[in-house]
Amino acid sequence: MVDIAGWTSTLSPARVRRYGVSAQWFHWVTAALMFAIIPLGWIFAEFKLAPDNQHFHAYFPGTVAQYASAHKTLGLTVLAIVAARLAYRLANPPPALPRSTSTLEAGLAHLTHWVLYLVLLVMPISGYIMSSGSDHPISIFGLFDFPKIPGVSKTVGTDAAIVHLSAQFAVYAFVVLHVAGVAWHLFVRRDDLIARMLPRQAGID
Ligand code: HEM
Ligand code: HEM
Repeated sequence: MVDIAGWTSTLSPARVRRYGVSAQWFHWVTAALMFAIIPLGWIFAEFKLAPDNQHFHAYFPGTVAQYASAHKTLGLTVLAIVAARLAYRLANPPPALPRSTSTLEAGLAHLTHWVLYLVLLVMPISGYIMSSGSDHPISIFGLFDFPKIPGVSKTVGTDAAIVHLSAQFAVYAFVVLHVAGVAWHLFVRRDDLIARMLPRQAGID
């Protein structure tokens, strides 16, 4: 295991101000779901575009319905988690940034975090509207069909699809920016930023 507290230099471990346990659970469960939903979306979209591509099927067994169901189920799970997470966030502001943080860094961090929250809402909501306007079911892991939003026309569904397919690029850009920011703190600044989103390490801090 990486000795984060001992390895870093600018902050004394005892002074690391962490996100609360619930905030950490919300963060890492959401991040893990996103790293599953996105490739499932790519596979699912490729299956739809080229249903007879045998080369592709050799790598990705299963049916388009299974990938669609996994993508939509996990996507709706993110929507539920993010709604709860935002309510929690409003009631529990995050710990103050270390004093060594510059105004530019703090501004960039806040911008990135709020855009990430925005895309975490826009992606599942646009997906839900898109699927509500289509003939395909929103199957929850093949167990039952999730209710669609009533009254969504095919046209509105198509508009939502444009939002869903375009906003994915904002997801990529801001997740890359976010992870690059964390890596920069870890390897260049060598401060304890990542420790703020990790449990206290027994025997170290
Ligand atoms: C955080 C949540 C979500 C993310 C990050 C996400 C991301 C994506 C991505 C990356 C694609 C592939 C697009 C492409 O290859 O160009 C996709 C496709 C798709 N997503 Fe989502 N999605 C989410 C939630 C949902 C939800 C909740 C639904 C429906 C209930 C949904 C329905 C779809 C559909 C139907 C497609 C295929 C679009 C097509 O190619 O026709 N998504 N999604
Ligand atoms: C390997 C991947 C990731 C790492 C290492 C990581 C790490 C972190 C860290 C260290 C923080 C705290 C920053 C601070 O102290 O100011 C943070 C906050 C945050 N992360 Fe990530 N993250 C990752 C992936 C993601 C993903 C995929 C998303 C969403 C799409 C995400 C969304 C957020 C948000 C919204 C915050 C702000 C939390 C708040 O202040 O309420 N992260 N992340």
